[in-house]
Amino acid sequence: MTIASGERLKGRKIVVTGAASGMGEAVARLFAAEGAALTLLDITEARLSAIADELGQHAVAGDISDENGVERAISGAAERMGGIDGLVNVAGILVRKPVRETSFADFQRVLSVNLGGPFLTCRAALPLLEQAEFGTIINVASLAGLRSQPGLAAYSATKAGLVAFTEALSGELGPTVRINAVCPGVIETPMTAYMFEDDSPHVAVETLNRAARPGTPEEVAKVCLFLSTPESAFVSSAAIAVTGGHFR
Ligand SMILES: NC(=O)c1ccc[n+]([C@@H]2O[C@H](COP(=O)([O-])OP(=O)(O)OC[C@H]3O[C@@H](n4cnc5c(N)ncnc54)[C@H](O)[C@@H]3O)[C@@H](O)[C@H]2O)c1
Repeated sequence: MTIASGERLKGRKIVVTGAASGMGEAVARLFAAEGAALTLLDITEARLSAIADELGQHAVAGDISDENGVERAISGAAERMGGIDGLVNVAGILVRKPVRETSFADFQRVLSVNLGGPFLTCRAALPLLEQAEFGTIINVASLAGLRSQPGLAAYSATKAGLVAFTEALSGELGPTVRINAVCPGVIETPMTAYMFEDDSPHVAVETLNRAARPGTPEEVAKVCLFLSTPESAFVSSAAIAVTGGHFR
């Protein structure tokens, strides 16, 4: 059965973190357009409220690495939406520094947000997802979690950890809940804006991937949409590269 465009998430109740920018915002916009009820989480309050108001969805401002705050946000979302059947963990931060210039505070912060955040949201949402007809969790990791490079040690460690966490958790879930990691390559968002500035030494577009361009947040959101519908019923415990074809 093919579900009509605009209704692919009709009746679903989904929490999206990192919804105030980049890929999280693109997920929020696409999921709202496909009929989902959403609770949008982000630490950047003003932009989050503006997006939530525009989409007619609910916003919760807060830090995904705050244990009590996440517990409250997830239980509040479930109360308001009448349950939770989907979770998309997009929020994350980048630390791009050689190890010898990375403070332990930098390391702990990126670990708390990129890995601690999904741990907390998943743990809080699991009992609710298990009550749903079918539940879906998507953890946005990174190509950097599959293959790393100098300058990304701390960040890559968190994303490799998130891929491993996703696989381990899949083995703890009943058959009605699916969990997958999405591993984007270079996507043009505020996080990567520095790469595309005129004087940036970081990037030659032809060397990024086989597509010879950065990806768009919408291209990643479409993969998240697929993973949130029954069309992906046999996809679970996967780490899906969305990279335009990476070279190594
Ligand atoms: N842009 C890329 O090329 C790329 C590639 C691979 C993976 N990723 C990952 O994709 C995700 C989204 O990245 P993006 O490029 O859209 O970045 P972005 O900076 O545009 O958006 C990230 C969002 O997360 C929010 N956030 C950050 N820390 C938070 C916290 N502690 N609590 C709640 N919200 C918080 C930010 O406020 C922001 O709205 C991140 O996890 C990132 O690591 C990005």
